[in-house]
Amino acid sequence: WVIMVTAQTPTNIAVIKYWGKRDETLILPINDSISVTLDPSHLCTTTTVAVSPTFQQDRMWLNGKEIALSGGRFQSCLREIRKRACDVEDKKKGIKITKEDWGKLHLHIASYNNFPTAAGLASSAAGFACLAYALGKLMNVKEDESQLSVIARQGSGSACRSLFGGFVKWIMGKEEDGSDSLAVQLADEKHWDDLVIIIAVVSSRQKETSSTSGMRESVETSLLLHHRAKEIVPKRILQMEEAIKNRDFASFSRLTCTDSNQFHAVCLDTCPPIFYMNDTSHRIISIIEKWHRSEESPQVAYTFDAGPNAVLIARNRQTAALLIQRLLYYFPPTLGDLDSYIIGDKSIA
Ligand code: DP6
Repeated sequence: WVIMVTAQTPTNIAVIKYWGKRDETLILPINDSISVTLDPSHLCTTTTVAVSPTFQQDRMWLNGKEIALSGGRFQSCLREIRKRACDVEDKKKGIKITKEDWGKLHLHIASYNNFPTAAGLASSAAGFACLAYALGKLMNVKEDESQLSVIARQGSGSACRSLFGGFVKWIMGKEEDGSDSLAVQLADEKHWDDLVIIIAVVSSRQKETSSTSGMRESVETSLLLHHRAKEIVPKRILQMEEAIKNRDFASFSRLTCTDSNQFHAVCLDTCPPIFYMNDTSHRIISIIEKWHRSEESPQVAYTFDAGPNAVLIARNRQTAALLIQRLLYYFPPTLGDLDSYIIGDKSIA
């Protein structure tokens, strides 16, 4: 016999960034962060997990290609899920798996991204969230999404925020064992559904410095990072929560853009400096900032993760249409400054 479970999880984009860990193994951050989860039809991972007594070892395929499972992060997630596994019984098929059996049975896992993994767009966030969720269902884990987020977090920090739709906060927590470092939903996907997210893919090449090693270097060398985590982010988190609650786009946009710029300032303050944005990214910022100055209130927010691609959040569909017009004007496809656009609504099922 074989039992299978399939789950689908979208990626999320941080509007108040996570950058820096206080514990590298458990993946515990030095500040809270807030993100928005995308619609699953655009950037998401679909994962099928299967168990059978005939499987000889744990195996995993990513986009159809088998990958090694030696990574500590993957093993941590698996170990944590197995600890919480419960009995599973399918009377029709005459299958019974006890809590203890889960420690001996092997798993086959197949994961697909509906976007290029190498596109510099967060794939580990959706990937580990989907893995934790699918394994939790397979092994009849009784815990809720916040508890599952504790497991996803140990795969990749930002993954913990993809267990919920809408707006999500990752609370950094205080405990040494990481049990209170988890994600909570601030507002569901219906709360602010006018927003439209457009990703301008500046480069589809894989980034040179991974988030993991980049943030390690920043923690070790950037004074600005520590000032940010202690003095700036706590206040900014409260302001962002307020902006989201009131659907206050002007504040939301100001906080999102400022936080992205500060994160990249921290990267520059790292020794040696890390450059994630390039000239095209900077031009996009200038275009949006100029637009901000020409209107009474901002129409679009920008944010950049550990790569040059711009995530643009338009206040509604009309603004999104204007934004695309402007992007096409400044970056005509013939010049090849941008590799592609990915357009999607915020929010998930
Ligand atoms: C810039 O979650 O990819 O996207 O925890 O080491 O796997 P690890 O890092 P990761 O870092 C994401 C950094 C970021 C900001 C964010 O998503 O909050």
